[in-house]
Amino acid sequence: MSSGFDDQPLAFLTYDVYYWLVTQILTENTRGFDLGRLLNAFGRSKDPKEPVPLAHNGMHALIELRKFLRDPKSYLFTKEAEIGPIFKMNFLGSQSVILLGPDANELVFVNREQAFMNQPAWEEQIGRYFRGGLLLRDGAEHRAHRLMMNFAFTDAALRSYVEDMQRVIKRRLDRFPTGDHPPFLLYNEIKQMTLEVASEVFLGERDVALVRKLNKAFLDIVQASGPGNINPFAIPGTLTHRGDVGRQLLEDYIDARIEKKRDSDDRDFFALLARGETRKADRFNNEELVDHLIFLMMAAHDTSTMTASTLFYYLAKNLAYQEKCRDEVFALGNGPIEYDDLDKLPLIEYGMQEALRLMPPLPYTTRRAVKDVEFEGKRIRAGENVMIAPLHTHFMPSLWTDPERFDPLRFSPERAEHKRHRFGYVPFGGGVHKCIGMRFAELEVRTLVAHALQRYRFYVPEGYELPLNFTSLPIPADGLPIRIERVKG
Ligand code: HEM
Repeated sequence: MSSGFDDQPLAFLTYDVYYWLVTQILTENTRGFDLGRLLNAFGRSKDPKEPVPLAHNGMHALIELRKFLRDPKSYLFTKEAEIGPIFKMNFLGSQSVILLGPDANELVFVNREQAFMNQPAWEEQIGRYFRGGLLLRDGAEHRAHRLMMNFAFTDAALRSYVEDMQRVIKRRLDRFPTGDHPPFLLYNEIKQMTLEVASEVFLGERDVALVRKLNKAFLDIVQASGPGNINPFAIPGTLTHRGDVGRQLLEDYIDARIEKKRDSDDRDFFALLARGETRKADRFNNEELVDHLIFLMMAAHDTSTMTASTLFYYLAKNLAYQEKCRDEVFALGNGPIEYDDLDKLPLIEYGMQEALRLMPPLPYTTRRAVKDVEFEGKRIRAGENVMIAPLHTHFMPSLWTDPERFDPLRFSPERAEHKRHRFGYVPFGGGVHKCIGMRFAELEVRTLVAHALQRYRFYVPEGYELPLNFTSLPIPADGLPIRIERVKG
């Protein structure tokens, strides 16, 4: 780039410094001084890799963000067609490099060059309320904590959780309205159900009044931690204040019970993590335990709720497939559905996989680059946040046949579309941070859907399309109104 001042070095410098400052203010994250960027702005960089292009003019950041939040999938496909699979976007004061496609997922999840870290990127987003969670740890510390946590996800532990889950699920299913009833907001109901599962299975708490209080505290935290809440001050009456109070309440609740749990024979999550596997050295200290439990409740809650809701929505729109899933449940016999039965329901399993493809509850995820890395000939610089987007990968026509269609059998062994690329289907992430609760989530959703189909038929009106709100994690904007009929016989 010629500034027109080539024979006047100082004027040239002034122009480029001005240019650089303006672009930093309008389009860049000004978090840190970056010599590389400064040299690029001067046109003096020796870096052979191109810098990552910006998806939009800095002046339009807010408009673009609104477009993105309205329909992130279309937005990402449009930008990919215009710019390519790597570009930068501004998100209310911070900036991310967006990387699209299965190779991008592999680069970030596998992290061969150790170029990405979790803690700095996640801390920025949810650190105030979910500090110390497993996803917010890196390296050797993350490995050690994950190993200790595995103990609460063994087959024996999961069996015991499923028994507790079944109790909550049956209790709530009993209350489903049937026949002529006002629209029943299924998403809201499932949210309450998974909250109760979390209190009973994770914390082992059965006191109804206390469960209600814990659930409220938990919901306050989740709301306060959403990207829409940019207020850092805990002034009474604000979301931030409610979130802080909620976090304190959960901390106090857990802290006061740790010693009792360590001495107990309880089989809930809290008790297993508190006791540890064998030696004292293998267990979390009190502070770690509090942080892990609060994070686990969050990680388990909205994700499973959204997966079950998406599956019910598609089953209600695809009645023939719903009927086949019900037949599969009845083929198990007339008795109660046992833990081992849950792996004998392939059609429900493909349905859940398809729901997770069509609406991954974590549509994108983030990391911080701690080294310069290259992707598609472009240079991502140390210090930049990156974002990958399963929501985009799950609809790539190169990976999926007719990607917009609900077609659960694409996951059958005969078709196995999810195996076309190792990182083409990533609802649970990949690499060392791959979801530790994947099996738990599968069991919870299968338990709920199998029990529900045994008793009820689910309908939505002809032509109904679920409206989604992407302000935080995706949720149905209308609560998913559904009509329910009792299955006769
Ligand atoms: C359908 C439900 C679920 C989905 C779609 C889901 C998705 C994910 C994804 C994508 C990640 C990786 C994020 C990243 O690498 O940036 C993750 C991590 C995690 N999930 Fe899940 N999750 C679900 C349910 C659960 C449940 C039920 C639990 C706990 C019982 C759980 C606990 C965790 C934890 C602790 C991590 C962090 C793992 C680590 O950093 O090593 N998740 N989850």
